[in-house]
Amino acid sequence: DAPAPRISVLGTGYLGATHAVSMAALGMEVVGYDTDPAKVAALQAGKVPFFEPGLPELLEEQLATGRLRFTTDVAEAVAFADVHFVCVGTPQTKTSHAANLSFVEAATTAIAENLTHDALIVGKSTVPVGTGARLRELVAAKARQDVRVELVWNPEFLREGKAVQDTLHPDRIVMGGTTPESEAVLRRVYATPIAEGSPVVVCDLPTAELVKVSANAFLATKISFINAIASVCEAADADVTVLADALGHDVRIGRQFLDAGLGFGGGCLPKDIRALMHRANELGAHQASALLQQVDEINMGQRGRVIDLALEACGGSVLNRRVGVLGAAFKPQTDDVRDSPALNVAAALHLRGAQVTVYDPEAGDTARASFPTLGYATSVEEAVEGADVVLVLTEWDEFVGAEPATLAPLTQHANVIDARGKLDPQRWRQAGWSFRGLGRTAA
Ligand code: UDX
Repeated sequence: DAPAPRISVLGTGYLGATHAVSMAALGMEVVGYDTDPAKVAALQAGKVPFFEPGLPELLEEQLATGRLRFTTDVAEAVAFADVHFVCVGTPQTKTSHAANLSFVEAATTAIAENLTHDALIVGKSTVPVGTGARLRELVAAKARQDVRVELVWNPEFLREGKAVQDTLHPDRIVMGGTTPESEAVLRRVYATPIAEGSPVVVCDLPTAELVKVSANAFLATKISFINAIASVCEAADADVTVLADALGHDVRIGRQFLDAGLGFGGGCLPKDIRALMHRANELGAHQASALLQQVDEINMGQRGRVIDLALEACGGSVLNRRVGVLGAAFKPQTDDVRDSPALNVAAALHLRGAQVTVYDPEAGDTARASFPTLGYATSVEEAVEGADVVLVLTEWDEFVGAEPATLAPLTQHANVIDARGKLDPQRWRQAGWSFRGLGRTAA
């Protein structure tokens, strides 16, 4: 068997930090590189700069083996490794829906300029189709002529909150634009998950780039589809949660990602569908773009719908009304508030003059950093104290399991809006609450 390649990981955000730690856990020697000295220092000290279940324990364990370390010295990281994973961010640009590729270009350039021996560059970041081909030209222009370097794409599908599990046991491993040599290297890197049954898809570079964005676009479409149906349910006095369960029994449809409610947010889905919308238009695939545009519009409309329900619950205006907001993270099991629908709604009500108090079991600090003008509580009870209306905007277990009978007397008016479809309407109504949900009957 070929010896295990040495790994560098460029970018130590959610993706890169998890990838670096996981590659070490698979037995390889790994160096993680980031331009941010604070991130590098934290990781080297065994601290994960964000909330991700299981990652801190694995980081500590792998640092202790001596296989894993972090650096801000890119030349040293590139000289050390044989396989370089590009895991930097591709945020939405300020002026359009396009992805900002400057970090990907900077990381690839840094690798190319510092190569000391033959190497494989593996793109993992989510990029518009066609990026890999451009990066190959960049590498050819910047790398020493006496080294052999390949660039391939190996997209990452990890979910926040399940990042370690998704990296160590991926649903599939996509290898795009490989030669037999680089395919063999990647198969060596992923030998353990492959042996454990993760399927491998070998394809060309553009297909690999598109698999990733299409997967996210499909998930987003599924969510907006059920939210569109939810609005029909509401108008027809039907219940979307029961409907989704019934749809889900069809194995061709599946129950996952059919939870109607406040819609999708986070650092990936919203920006990825917009980037695909933009790229599809550039490529002349206008209908694909129009479909994604609808997905985005339906999704953003859900936020407006919840705001309307809150206004309605307060008799038409929230001016000086108390609004208790349960949930700030874009989904449970994370402290991430990037494009969080929950905070978006909270901030909109605050702008309309409401006194908003937010509670989230993990995302209080990150929320406060982004939205310092909102009020923050340290418990469910404190958040609902004196509230005219209570909004459940992220489906943390703590909220789903809350006791409505104990909470009702703490509020001014026992009004609850379940924007995630996880509360039991009957239980809340029996405890005296006026209950509204998205896609559910009003009475
Ligand atoms: C997503 C993809 O799942 C992952 O494969 C990709 O690599 C990155 O983007 P993530 O952003 O971590 O992962 O979140 P995900 O679990 O997909 O949830 C996205 C959003 O959709 C959340 O805001 C969630 O609340 C919402 N959602 C999800 C729904 O509104 N309804 C559902 O049924 C499922």
